[in-house]
Amino acid sequence: MSRVYQPTAHVVGKSRLPSFDKYKEMHKKSLENPEEFWSEIAKEFFWQTPHQPGKFVSYNFDLTKGDIFVKWMEGASTNISVNLLDRNVEKGYGDKIAYYWEGNHPDDYSRITYRKLKDLVCQFANGLRSRGVRKGDRVAIYMPMILETVVCMLACARIGAIHSVVFAGFSSDSLAERMSDCKAKVLVTADGGWRGEKLLVLKKTCDEALEKSLKKHNHKVEMCVVASHLAKATPCGKLDDVKSLYKWNDDIDVWWHDLIEDESNHCTPEWMDAEDPLFMLYTSGSTGKPKGVLHTTAGYLLYAATTFKYVFDYGENDIYWCTADVGWITGHTYVVYAPLANCATSVMFEGTPFYPDYDRYWAVVQKYRVNQMYTAPTALRSLMKFGDDYVSKHNMESLRVLGSVGEPINPEAWHWYYNLVGNGRCSIVDTFWQTETGGHVLTSLPGATPMKPGAAGFPFFGVEPSILDESGKIIEGPGEGYLVFSRPWPSIMRTLFGNHERYEQVYFSKFPGYYCTGDGARRDEDGFLWVTGRIDDMLNVSGHLMSTAEVESVLTEDSRVSEAAVVSRPHPQKGEALHCFVILNDGVQQDPSIVDALKKHVRARIGAFAAPDVIQFAPGLPKTRSGKIMRRILRKIAIGDTDIGDTSTLADPSVVGELFKGKP
Ligand code: WTA
Repeated sequence: MSRVYQPTAHVVGKSRLPSFDKYKEMHKKSLENPEEFWSEIAKEFFWQTPHQPGKFVSYNFDLTKGDIFVKWMEGASTNISVNLLDRNVEKGYGDKIAYYWEGNHPDDYSRITYRKLKDLVCQFANGLRSRGVRKGDRVAIYMPMILETVVCMLACARIGAIHSVVFAGFSSDSLAERMSDCKAKVLVTADGGWRGEKLLVLKKTCDEALEKSLKKHNHKVEMCVVASHLAKATPCGKLDDVKSLYKWNDDIDVWWHDLIEDESNHCTPEWMDAEDPLFMLYTSGSTGKPKGVLHTTAGYLLYAATTFKYVFDYGENDIYWCTADVGWITGHTYVVYAPLANCATSVMFEGTPFYPDYDRYWAVVQKYRVNQMYTAPTALRSLMKFGDDYVSKHNMESLRVLGSVGEPINPEAWHWYYNLVGNGRCSIVDTFWQTETGGHVLTSLPGATPMKPGAAGFPFFGVEPSILDESGKIIEGPGEGYLVFSRPWPSIMRTLFGNHERYEQVYFSKFPGYYCTGDGARRDEDGFLWVTGRIDDMLNVSGHLMSTAEVESVLTEDSRVSEAAVVSRPHPQKGEALHCFVILNDGVQQDPSIVDALKKHVRARIGAFAAPDVIQFAPGLPKTRSGKIMRRILRKIAIGDTDIGDTSTLADPSVVGELFKGKP
């Protein structure tokens, strides 16, 4: 039984949702009368034309009854950049800081107000317009974590162009594939940027991608806009003559500063229908071909804004920091759209948690007196292994809400975050969601809901989760199965760009009437929801269903282990057996006694059926650049199959060879 943590006085006192009952009441209302619930929230925003009465939401989730569709606020029109910028400036917040920008090097920092951000967005929007970019055109963005990236996204929104951000760690192949899939008219990038001591010459990758797009995919991008960043940044490592590393093609390349030079800081917004596309973002698909998840205007605005307000319990003078890169959905919703919709002040960070030292995160918290911090378990685990002093030497008293996203947080990391970072008095919000959901769908809420380490908690307003068994029957009460949703909330994806059929197949064909997340979940006896990991990461050992996350979390309970990844491999008797990769903490020697101890521990904590067959010491794990463990590759290593396929999305492909060598 997990301990239940109640919100502390430190959080409850200031919370806008001060009790569990209040949460339950609002959640009930949001399901009983979605129109009333969301139209009240819509009043806070600007609409050029109002929605049609009685048409707040319509949808079909059942493929047997026809095409899948979701529509919110039909008839309404607006522009999201007006709601994020003009509306806040007009309310008198023009001088409020929208972002404190913290560069990779601690000497590099700046700030931008709402008024200035609006001016820059308008100028850049005018620049794009003057080059023929129009409503519905796609603009690919391949940029570091700099303010121009936010400006660019919002400038697209202002003129109705659909932005498609590609994380700037992706290879030129991946960028080319994504640009040509969505037929991008324009690519926006920077000359380069620093990640720790590593110099990334982004323009060079773009040169290659533009060429590949043309030669491999027969798609020509018309213009490449380049923000000059390196000249302003303090060098953090070896700096070659960067200009010699990339090409300049006068036919399509244009400097950002040249594009906006003569542009006015007024820009008439494009009025967008509620269901007009806002942006698309590629996410990996099980077949290998990335899926272009498409989000639309009105519903995304409502839901992003509301989740931010309640999940982080943002107060007017708070300083909020999300560490995610804008290249991922977390960066889209919780670095850009949601904080600005709430007129928040955010920190935007260019660098890594490890540069110039392992305390950079905590130095940033102290420097800006951050109240809400939002990061990923993988970052926490990689910092935990360096010891507590890096945290405790900083003043962390400003913190009130600590967010986690991206994967289930193992209780070890949860406790470290809670006790050390949060000093035992902050609320942890473990937010479960997906690129496809647009915003948080399961989460704890500060001040309102109790917390259990590792549990995502409860559905957000408007969200109705179910757990289904293999036959599609609803599991009421405690139990484990497929996590699905039986109705849309405002920001659920509307389609896959250019491929509605794949959208229907991937998300709606398994269980008619439900959006299928692809994740497993468990409801415990107290009603908490635990996301147990991707369904394809489910393990079935001797008929017992368990999740990789469950075993991993038990392994990391051993103080010598910093990180673990578990996959299954075929076993003649048990069906599947566990192969566990463990990374030991710095300074811990590899020793067979640790293997025995870990096996015993898993038996003791989960049951004899869960005892791992193999425990392999690992120097590192194959992770995507966004920090997700690629279990597909670990499964190959576990069975000794060297045909591992495409490794282009790996952050560090060399780790794969090491793991094959180290196989017991
Ligand atoms: C996983 C990231 C458990 C899950 C926002 C989901 C989580 C996938 C959590 C989506 C969490 C994300 N607890 N699992 N709090 N958050 N996941 O599209 O498997 O990059 O389906 O969106 O991450 O990843 P994506």
